[in-house]
Amino acid sequence: MRNLLDIMDLSEEELYGLINTALDISKDPDKYAELCKRKKLATLFFEPSTRTRLSFEAAMYELGGNVIGFSEASSSSVSKGESVADTVKVISNYADIIAMRHPKDGAALVAARNARIPVINAGDGGHHHPTQTLADLLTIYKEKGSFEDLTIGMCGDLKYGRTVHSLVYAMSRYKGVKFIFISPEELRFPRYIIDDVLDKKGIPYSETKDLEEAIPKLDILYMTRIQRERFEDLDEYERLKDSYVLTPEKMVSAKNDMAVLHPLPRVNEISVAVDDDPRAKYFEQTLNGKYMRMALILKLLGLDSKKEEAKESVKTFFIDGLKCPNNRCISKTEQELKQEFYAVDESKGIYRCIYCDTEVRK
Ligand code: NCD
Repeated sequence: MRNLLDIMDLSEEELYGLINTALDISKDPDKYAELCKRKKLATLFFEPSTRTRLSFEAAMYELGGNVIGFSEASSSSVSKGESVADTVKVISNYADIIAMRHPKDGAALVAARNARIPVINAGDGGHHHPTQTLADLLTIYKEKGSFEDLTIGMCGDLKYGRTVHSLVYAMSRYKGVKFIFISPEELRFPRYIIDDVLDKKGIPYSETKDLEEAIPKLDILYMTRIQRERFEDLDEYERLKDSYVLTPEKMVSAKNDMAVLHPLPRVNEISVAVDDDPRAKYFEQTLNGKYMRMALILKLLGLDSKKEEAKESVKTFFIDGLKCPNNRCISKTEQELKQEFYAVDESKGIYRCIYCDTEVRK
């Protein structure tokens, strides 16, 4: 693995490797304090972030390295019209590794294809957010001791919430996992991931609008914020923004060992009164995220002394006249970027955009 764009870039073995390193770092941080001496992390944040950016920065500093970067597009040359490709070609001369967040789906892939240094996707539009998933996985592992036989409820904005997309991919590898998707009709979990992962692997899932009905069945409740910035119609956001609020009253019917996770920031979907419940794990989750990012940086810089397996590359196609229909895709804005697809079923002419995974038919 050279880059982390999607959580599935990590094999199960590599994931356990990161978890072990993260647990070891949390026990003995001094052992790791100099490993990234003279190395630089570039944090390229074209979209706002608190936790992700600062936890990457803290991670690099705690490894003895340095950090350069920007925290909003307006303070970079993107505001002058520079492409992602050019930006990362330049940054490759200045840093050893990049962590990038961008509002467009697929922007991380464009960066990885143009950078000469490893790229970590710190969130690309509504698409993926693999390092949040690393924080989620370490939290689940610490709470449950395993990833198997868990019923996971995901609640809120399952359409635009990139963290839930990445977490479903990650958890779909384990035996006995079931999902309950709790959302308003308009924000249901994406069909392409259901087809791709759950139906394909025969993983049980159900969909409901009712948090109270689902809560007693859950081992993990993953709450999410309604993603205001991804709505094309803000009236729709106003209508949906208060869909769910987790309160101490609702927690009464949950299992005694159910863990509540949330990638944060929270708006109003978990009442502050839940924070004192020992089952609330979302602040610990942020600390776990820092340890996992430290482990990831070490691995991508080859400082964890383990050999890489080469990832098989997927065959892609350039097809005359075929365009990605997703207006939020990086291919709509990146200069000179050719529309590129991978096949879902070539004989039926069904393809997906390599940047955002939106389906297109020839
Ligand atoms: C999440 C994100 O950016 O997708 N935040 C994070 O990285 N911790 C969740 C969110 O913004 O709702």
